Amino acid sequence: MKLPIGTKIIGVGAAVPPNVVTNVDLEALVETSDEWIETRTGVRSRRVVGEEETCTDLAIAAARDALAFAAVPAEAIDLVIVATSTPDNLYPSTACMVQAAIGAQHAFAFDMEAACTGIVYALTVAQHFIALGTSKTVLVVGVDIHSRFLNWEDRSTCILFGDGAGAFVLQASDTDNEVLATYLRADGKGGHLLHIPNTGAGFPHGGKTVPKETHRFLQMNGRAIYEFAVNAVPEAVRAACAKAGMSVEGIDFLIPHQANKRIIKAAADRLGLKEEQLVSNLDEYGNTSAASIPLAFTEAIGQGKIKTPSTCCLVGFGGGLTWGAAVIRWTAVDQRRNGTAAMISPQAQDSQRQSGTTDKKPTKRR
Ligand code: ACO
Repeated sequence: MKLPIGTKIIGVGAAVPPNVVTNVDLEALVETSDEWIETRTGVRSRRVVGEEETCTDLAIAAARDALAFAAVPAEAIDLVIVATSTPDNLYPSTACMVQAAIGAQHAFAFDMEAACTGIVYALTVAQHFIALGTSKTVLVVGVDIHSRFLNWEDRSTCILFGDGAGAFVLQASDTDNEVLATYLRADGKGGHLLHIPNTGAGFPHGGKTVPKETHRFLQMNGRAIYEFAVNAVPEAVRAACAKAGMSVEGIDFLIPHQANKRIIKAAADRLGLKEEQLVSNLDEYGNTSAASIPLAFTEAIGQGKIKTPSTCCLVGFGGGLTWGAAVIRWTAVDQRRNGTAAMISPQAQDSQRQSGTTDKKPTKRR
C-alpha cells in the first residue's frame, strides 16, 4: 500500500445555539457583576442550549458546516472522531450519531475525551489514521455543552463556560502536508483540580448518597488551573514548533483554547507573540471547551483575519489534566458561493435544508 505524503486540512466549521446569556443576565442569578467577569476573564456573553437542544445537535451542525466549507460529500468520510466531555449518552457515541445524521455511510466512528484539549488530541489521532493509510478523509468534531453540568448558583464557575461545536475535515494528500507537528501531554495527578464528579459508573444509583451541592457539577480550583495553563501553553507551543523544525517566530497566528483572556495574554507574552497574532472570541462565546479552538478558528477565517497561506498553532489545555498543541499550515478556501465561514445554529441549518437554500447566515448576536 502506498502511504500518503501528508495530511491536508480542507474544511472548518462551527455551530452555536441561538440563546445568548450575557454577564448582566448572570447578575440576576449570582452575586457578580459584568465588570468583574469582563475584567477577570474577558467573557461578556456566552451561548447556552435550550432544553430541547443536545450536544449531538451542535456536533451535527458543525460537521455539516465543515463539510460544506470543504465541498466534500458525507459519503467520502471514512472516519468520524468526536471530542467531547459532555456527550448526551455514554453510548451510542456522539460520533455514531453524527455519522448517521450526515450520511457518512462508509465511516467508522468513535468519541474521545480529553476535556478542553480534546480537539488537539482528536486532530492528532486523525492525522495518524491518515498517515498509516487507514483513512483518507476524516471528520473531527469538538463539542461541549457544559451548561448542563454547571452549578448556576456557583459564581466561580457558571460565569466561565458556554456551549458550542467546531469541526475540521482532514484529507490524505500525495503532494502536501499541512499538519506539521503535534505534541500531547497528560498529568492525571492534577485530575482533581478540574472535574465533574459523580457522573459515571463510580456513582452507583441507589447506593451512596451524594450531597446536592457536589452532584454532577463542574468543580474547579481556579487559581491552580490558571497557574497550570500559563505554563502549559508556552511549553506545548514551543515543543510543537520544535517538532515541526521551526521556531515560535515562524507562527503567524496562535489559536489558544478560549478559557480566559488573562491566560491567553500571559502565555502569549511568554512566547513573545504580538496581540494581532492572537485569535480569540471568548468575549462572545466564553469557554466552549473542546469546541473553542475550531470555533475561534472558523470565525477568524470568516472575518478575514486568518488569510491563506498561514502557519497556525492550535494549543489546548484542560481537565485531566491534559494539554497539547498542533502546528498547521492553513491553505484551504471556503468552497461555498459566498466564500465566508459564518457561525450557524442547528436551527438555522434545518430551515435552510428545508427551504433548499445553501447560503449561511450568522445567527443573531446579542
Ligand atoms: N463575581 C464576583 N466575585 C467573584 C466571582 C464572580 N463571578 N467569582 C469569584 N469571586 C470572588 C471570590 O469569591 C474572591 O472573593 P474574596 O477575595 O472575598 O474571597 C475574589 O472574587 C477573588 O477570587 P479568585 O478566585 O482569587 O479570583 P481570580 O482572580 O483567581 O479569578 C478565575 C478567578 C477567573 C476563575 C481565575 O482563577 C481563572 O481564570 N482560572 C482559570 C480558570 C479556567 O480557565 N478554567 C478552565 C480551564 S480548562 C477548561 O477549559 C475546562
